[in-house]
Amino acid sequence: MQIDIVTILPSLVKGFFEDSIMKRSIEAGHVTLNYCNPRDYATDKHKQVDDYQFGGGAGMVLKPEPLAALLDDLMQELKYDDIIYMTPEGETFNQKTANYYSQKQNLIIICGHYKGIDQRIRDLYVTKEISIGDYVLSGGEPAAAIFCDAVIRLIPGVLNNETSALTDSFQDNLLAPPVYTRPAEFRGLQVPDVLRSGDFQKIEDWRHDQAVENTRRRRPDLLED
Ligand code: ADE
Repeated sequence: MQIDIVTILPSLVKGFFEDSIMKRSIEAGHVTLNYCNPRDYATDKHKQVDDYQFGGGAGMVLKPEPLAALLDDLMQELKYDDIIYMTPEGETFNQKTANYYSQKQNLIIICGHYKGIDQRIRDLYVTKEISIGDYVLSGGEPAAAIFCDAVIRLIPGVLNNETSALTDSFQDNLLAPPVYTRPAEFRGLQVPDVLRSGDFQKIEDWRHDQAVENTRRRRPDLLED
């Protein structure tokens, strides 16, 4: 998979991919991440990428020309499955969307800043708008990083043990069951006997029951779907 991240602040995204699973997914060639900066396409001497809003109001808007020039360049080289704009006005991101995108080949993700991007870029280029939740970030970069992390870990081969993504919270609309490691007793609390029984079927049943119970208690809305 190739993901081209359009951002005027690439350093806000890069750190997410410099450790652990994300780093390994890049090193192993499961994903290629490119950072594309609209500032490189600004033509004036100050390399200006933002401007005041028409109609007045606080906050700057990313100008359309550098963004359009950059997107034209990218689209000339590659056919993209989607051009995604991260915005609180988008469709709320969830595990189902992450699964969907983990099967795609080429994506562009546009990060807005300040008040966002000029509406005409949304009208002309953007094919999908995604929000990571009902709150407003200073820019789309953390949202893009979260989107990429959730999607990339689902690409087959990225996780060492592929089944571990299948037992994640939300994969089957259930929260995950509790997990334990050694020691078997900690501050008077015991690991449930069933997990030490060696009986695979019993363990699976227990985990499923715990997942349902966890979901019923904390997120009953998931069981209604
Ligand atoms: N940019 C700012 N806030 C955002 C959010 N909640 N989701 C996606 N992109 C954003």
